[in-house]
Amino acid sequence: MYEYAIAWEWLSLAVRWLHVITAIAWIGSSFYFIALDLGLVKRPHLPPGAYGEEWQVHGGGFYHIQKYLVAPAQMPEHLTWFKYESYFTWLSGFLLLCVVYYGGADLFLIDRTMLELEPWQAICLSLASLGVGWVIYDQLCKSPLGNNTWGLMCLLYIVLVAMAWGYTQVFTGRAAFLHLGAFTATIMSANVFFIIIPNQKIVVADLIAGRTPDAKYGRIAKQRSLHNNYLTLPVIFFMLSNHYPLAFATQFNWVIAALVFLMGVTIRHWFNTTHARKGKPTWTWLVTVLLFIAIMWLSTVPKILTGETETSMTSMQQKFASNAHFEAARDIVTSRCSMCHAAEPVWEGITFTPKSVKLETDAEVAAHAREIYIQAGRSHAMPPGNVTDLTPEERKLLVAWYESSVAPK
Ligand code: HEC
Repeated sequence: MYEYAIAWEWLSLAVRWLHVITAIAWIGSSFYFIALDLGLVKRPHLPPGAYGEEWQVHGGGFYHIQKYLVAPAQMPEHLTWFKYESYFTWLSGFLLLCVVYYGGADLFLIDRTMLELEPWQAICLSLASLGVGWVIYDQLCKSPLGNNTWGLMCLLYIVLVAMAWGYTQVFTGRAAFLHLGAFTATIMSANVFFIIIPNQKIVVADLIAGRTPDAKYGRIAKQRSLHNNYLTLPVIFFMLSNHYPLAFATQFNWVIAALVFLMGVTIRHWFNTTHARKGKPTWTWLVTVLLFIAIMWLSTVPKILTGETETSMTSMQQKFASNAHFEAARDIVTSRCSMCHAAEPVWEGITFTPKSVKLETDAEVAAHAREIYIQAGRSHAMPPGNVTDLTPEERKLLVAWYESSVAPK
């Protein structure tokens, strides 16, 4: 049913909208608190138990914030928690993963030249990797190694690079990068859900019961916050990377991912140092630029093609390829789209396959039926500016091809 394709497209936009909003709320409040925390000043008149304070001006008023390390002597009457930003970012992100990569597993998740997987197998692999990632990370933090901040960070880096490599060996490059972001973001959200908030709840319960809370809870939460701090920027890079095939669909994509994690550290280090009023380590920007140049260079190494592996069409693709309108639709696509959407585009100024969408063979055209329908049939997004003069009749035919293929018989 074609209504399904249209509803799916809108669902995808709605969930993406929600995800970006919740992520702004989470990352925004988290960056705010990191800067606030680092900028606290110790002054003699502070109340007992207070560690530092800061004055801020915003939106027409002055704010006077004091931080109590461990906890104040008495529970305040009203306490604002910061947790739903993180939970809803994870939940909406997971929903988006389902809509785009599980719903469109054949096209976006599975790369049959890498690994022949059925959609359900690919989805299980994806879910398992996210769950196992958290368990490994959490155990590393809780092991004796967890006491060594930098040793632990190096070990985590190795885990992340191993995952970057692993994902690129089983999924499409696009899904690999997205999963690396989801893997990292799952660790970050789970840190909030399983460690930071529960520890804070223990402290609050102790206060209410009149006990002195153990300082170790704050320390553990602080360590997890530090990891979240350095992981934020790479996650955002990976989430945005699906618009940029040079990042995810080139031969050394996993090395690129490894360097992105380093850029996350070098950029955050500048801000962390500056907010702590410990000078301005300009060298971090130099390192960041060098890393970025290395990434750009790595993306130019041509992908070694493993030869045209003849992959069989899925039953869905066969449905589109055996439709009565197929030949006419394919001829339209090959005459109006393939000059750009080819392994080696011939259109002036198009140097690589746009969004990795290749439309040359019957199988490729059938595989992208829904996208062709949305981009060129139902909307005028493609060809860009209608440069190849797709006529209204041709658009109608693309619509008829898709809709009659999915119509119930
Ligand atoms: C002049 C070159 C050119 C032609 C011709 C062209 N495209 Fe594209 N196409 C692009 C570019 C560039 C992008 C990437 C747009 C972007 O980055 O948002 C793209 C993106 C796409 C996408 C992916 C959209 C997404 O956001 O994932 C699809 C699907 C697509 N085109 C289908 C078609 C179809 C179908 C035709 C023919 C009717 C066509 N294109 C003709 C250049 C072209």
